[in-house]
Amino acid sequence: MVQPNIPAAKRAGLPVDLQRLTAEGDDWLSAEERYALKTHGVCAQTQPHVFMIRIRTSDGVIGSSSARGLARIASDHGRGWVHLTTRQQAELHHIAATDVPDVLAAIEHIGMTTRSSCGHTVRGVLACAYAGAGLDEPFDCRPDARAVSQLVYERGQGLNRRLPSRLNIGFGGCTSCRDHAKTNDLGFVSVIRDGEPGYEVWVGGSLGKSAPTLAMRALPFVPRRDVLAVVDALLTVYCDYGEFDKPSRGRLKFLIRELGREDFLDLFVEAIDEVRARPWPAPMPVRVVDSESAAQILARVPPGGWGSGVRPQRLPGLATVTVNVPLGDIDSDDLIVLADLADEVADGNLYLTRNQNVVFRDVALGNVPLVRDRLAQIGLGLDGADQALDVRVCTGGPVCSLAITPAQAAATDVLEAKALARNSGLRVHISGCMNACAQHQIGDIGYSGGKVTVGGRNVTGYQVWLGGDLSAGQVGRIVGRITEDDVALATGAIIGVWEALRMHGERFCDTLARVGDDAVSAYLRAVLAARWEPGPEPDDAASVSGARELVGAP
Ligand code: HEM
Ligand code: SF4
Repeated sequence: MVQPNIPAAKRAGLPVDLQRLTAEGDDWLSAEERYALKTHGVCAQTQPHVFMIRIRTSDGVIGSSSARGLARIASDHGRGWVHLTTRQQAELHHIAATDVPDVLAAIEHIGMTTRSSCGHTVRGVLACAYAGAGLDEPFDCRPDARAVSQLVYERGQGLNRRLPSRLNIGFGGCTSCRDHAKTNDLGFVSVIRDGEPGYEVWVGGSLGKSAPTLAMRALPFVPRRDVLAVVDALLTVYCDYGEFDKPSRGRLKFLIRELGREDFLDLFVEAIDEVRARPWPAPMPVRVVDSESAAQILARVPPGGWGSGVRPQRLPGLATVTVNVPLGDIDSDDLIVLADLADEVADGNLYLTRNQNVVFRDVALGNVPLVRDRLAQIGLGLDGADQALDVRVCTGGPVCSLAITPAQAAATDVLEAKALARNSGLRVHISGCMNACAQHQIGDIGYSGGKVTVGGRNVTGYQVWLGGDLSAGQVGRIVGRITEDDVALATGAIIGVWEALRMHGERFCDTLARVGDDAVSAYLRAVLAARWEPGPEPDDAASVSGARELVGAP
């Protein structure tokens, strides 16, 4: 495949005649035009003449009528398959080149968009699915996430011509979001200071295939009214100083390394001071809801009890209910059932999560059994959401043009591992290549597909990453390699050694830190023999080095 000259395509203004696809298919597209298509959310698949189309959600929310529309479009054009991503977006696959313009129009028609969802763009903004409802969220960050989403969306193609690479932005304030802020180029963590709602600002996180890096805390507090100025300032510094001409070094983390943390921060703060005085729209009012005491909230119990898929909201009597969508894949008919349920028992929205699930909010406790029943009728359920068997996985081999391994097949095998079922707190992440769409560097156990040498043979397989621990600011390390057939076997063995070595209450990464990667690798060598190769593939060692450098607070 001819590689596009991405800087040249951006300098030329990203021209591509979308309408021509209808009559002529895609044979005429140059590599640069294919790149330009990505900025419209249209991305190559392994198969010729069909595309993946990514739909942008403004803050991880899809309204029920849009969800029904999406299901219809997937049925008509995309084999009835919708994939929910690890960044709260949705994807359609197998869209024929000749259908692309019609599908894009249909998506706009249901009030959604695909623009700026792939390529070097500011991606759909993440927001905690539990924002404003969860017990440990200081206030609802969603209105600010939506305002940022709107700002970057309006600047669309102008920004897409100038950005050195993609930029990920996330909002959240619960414990999990606080940790995940570190995986974003720009992360906003909601906090209250002296009674005023605002955010800690984290910058420079990104995983990807080279130098996976967690963000550093750049600013301890910005009030809500300054959020748009902060985004604007970061975009200015990034576009002015980032590596435009070498896309592989374009991510913000490389700019921060090159300038040094202090100099970067000086530029960032200077830029904020410059733009802060501009007339930014006032933030939407948010209520800083005083939670009832946990005791009052838990005194009311949903039929069947509280559990991983049924969580209490701040207002007693209401629950957020998380539908476990295995591997993030849902078919059109099931999506319609979820949309109908959202209208019937929740607030009319589907909230997508980083674990590729769907959350309903404001469900009256008495309605939880109805949700369970309806889901059971379509083979879905609440059990296991966000737990070990909720393996995080990209689409990988069957469709992704960059894939080396069929990640979903590996994930399906892993679901059978009994060891996972008895350790609900573990997280397994499987990416079909080093690009890290399933964020393999932050799982307890991560796999990244690649060509690897195992037992002297060069095979299609996985690098095995262990010990990702966002709360400690650590990405995982590659401890070994396996063939593509051994993912379930290796998972069982890794969990087995942890079970044998762990002290009471120890997390996976704690045990690993105590006994050391080498000891675990030696055990795996003893158990798996020639099917286990220690350490990273020599060619990949350089690309993963240097991780963790940005982490910390100034
Ligand atoms: C056509 C399919 C896809 C292609 C070609 C693709 C391509 C890529 C590439 C090249 C990167 C690395 C970016 C970098 O290092 O700067 C990446 C990162 C990422 N992708 Fe994908 N991707 C695809 C599908 C997906 C899917 C299905 C998901 C979610 C299930 C996803 C989620 C992500 C995430 C979370 C990252 C990590 C971003 C970061 O931490 O910087 N992508 N993708
Ligand atoms: S990790 Fe690799 S295989 Fe998986 S979706 Fe991303 S680019 Fe494709």
